[in-house]
Amino acid sequence: MKKTIVVYKSSTGFTKRYAQMIAQETHCAIADFQKLRDGRQLAGYDTVIFGSRAHAGSIDGLKKMRKLFQASGAKRLLLFVTGAMPDTATETIQQFWSQNLTTDELLHIPHFYMPGGLCYEKMSRGDRLMMKAAAVMMKRKKHKSAADLEFERAIAHSYDISDRKYMEPLVAFLSNSSAIVQEMCEVENRPLF
Ligand SMILES: Cc1cc2nc3c(=O)[nH]c(=O)nc-3n(C[C@H](O)[C@H](O)[C@H](O)COP(=O)(O)O)c2cc1C
Repeated sequence: MKKTIVVYKSSTGFTKRYAQMIAQETHCAIADFQKLRDGRQLAGYDTVIFGSRAHAGSIDGLKKMRKLFQASGAKRLLLFVTGAMPDTATETIQQFWSQNLTTDELLHIPHFYMPGGLCYEKMSRGDRLMMKAAAVMMKRKKHKSAADLEFERAIAHSYDISDRKYMEPLVAFLSNSSAIVQEMCEVENRPLF
């Protein structure tokens, strides 16, 4: 198997936990995004998996990761994002991807959504304030849709909807794609006569 590293950016621990499970399952290296200074630390890896969180509709750290990946010389970037949305929020998740990835990236960067939850106990002060502002806005809203009411209920407290099963599509993608690469190498090296 080619060399793979999973780089995670995690604030309250959901993304870190998924990254650790992926590293354990696939026997790949793991690194904390906050400790990476430049792309040279990723040199020598063929595949970089970047894991981060959804943050106010954006992917935390993606801009910097794009630069690190380009400088690294790695061939392939995979992406996973954790968030407060359940995996059933398929339309919102699709919208999220198309708002954050370019058309080219949507085609060429395999991307996976993994539900996390909310952890007020480990949240930074700034993040707690942002969540409080969202709660106040929802409370003041006059005509609330069913989704608004669900969102208001969900953000009132910490919750954990993460599950090992959500990393499985990424792990399966990795093992299927490396099997294909290996098969292609074997075909190339096979003598013709
Ligand atoms: C200020 C703030 C904004 C957030 N925005 C979103 C969001 O737009 N979409 C979403 O699904 N989750 C959102 N979340 C939830 C986080 O993405 C979720 O808790 C994530 O799993 C945290 O990952 P971490 O524990 O690795 O830091 C937000 C959380 C905070 C604190």
